[in-house]
Amino acid sequence: MGTKILGTGVYLPQRVLTNYDLEKMVDTSDEWISTRTGIKERRIAKEETATSMALEASKMAIENAGVRAEEIELIILATLTPDKKFPSTACLLQAELRIKNSFSFDLSAACSGFLYALDVADAYIKSGKASKILVVGVEKLSEIVDWEDRSTCVLFGDGAGAMVVSSSDEDSDILASRMYSEGSFWDILYAEKCGYIQMKGKELFKLAVRSMEAVCREVMEKAGLSTEEVDIVIPHQANIRIINSLADKLEIPKEKVFANIDRYGNTSAASIPIAFHEAVSTGRLKRGDVALLTAMGGGLTWGATLLRY
Ligand code: UT7
Repeated sequence: MGTKILGTGVYLPQRVLTNYDLEKMVDTSDEWISTRTGIKERRIAKEETATSMALEASKMAIENAGVRAEEIELIILATLTPDKKFPSTACLLQAELRIKNSFSFDLSAACSGFLYALDVADAYIKSGKASKILVVGVEKLSEIVDWEDRSTCVLFGDGAGAMVVSSSDEDSDILASRMYSEGSFWDILYAEKCGYIQMKGKELFKLAVRSMEAVCREVMEKAGLSTEEVDIVIPHQANIRIINSLADKLEIPKEKVFANIDRYGNTSAASIPIAFHEAVSTGRLKRGDVALLTAMGGGLTWGATLLRY
């Protein structure tokens, strides 16, 4: 039994917050933000909720997948900014999509959330327990950002990305994956129940490059593929310098590495599905290409998934 990626979708709020806007809010500059992070602007939700952003991204993914919403048997939604304590945002999304006879749950793995969710979906498919699954990454980080803290508020943005995956008798699109967590590092990146994002940026930077490099090498070895056989790397978008260092360490040319952090900043669990959808819709990722996805985030959590799209 193989896992096929049928379709993807995104939603990005209309409202754009540029580095120049931030210059008026905190003691920062476009120059600092651009050179230290690669971010130029980010999207900020206005009326949107996590559920409404997830809904728009999911509708697009379902349409692009060529399936009917009723065919979805499972929704796995990765977020660290759910709309309610409970029920899960996945259940709220299920209601909006009017899907019956399925089950839904949220998954909490911060910036690695989408890769974790895709990994769980792959396991459900391969065990025969579900055959059509909607996987979503959505964040409304603007709600948990301290807009007076220049060291964090310039980094994050809002948005959603979704993917429909299905069981198939053909070879699996997902070639290899490996997820990790190290809970003893929880205080490097976290938010208290009703608090703002706290981050030890420098420590995280080094751990991010090191961990993603190691896990990328692990999945390539597992699948028996070399870096030359990878057509595109779609990393979590946290910092362009992390992305570039990772590419250098893996000895993969920068042209093969997808980045849209300049436009959206760090959207945590939404960053990989948004980037994946853009890579597909701009023709950077074509059917048959080998894509390497990797992320690192709060938990700490990290992982990589190697797939043939
Ligand atoms: O998504 C989960 C994964 N996330 C990550 O992996 C993030 C990893 N970390 C990073 O991307 C970087 O560490 C940051 C972008 C967060 C920070 O960059 P940095 O090069 O590590 O800067 P820093 O925190 O060491 O700060 C350097 C200086 C400090 O001033 P002093 O102490 O040298 O005088 C900061 O106060 O830059 C100052 N600074 C700022 N200046 C202007 C910090 N934030 C700002 C700002 N504008 N927004």
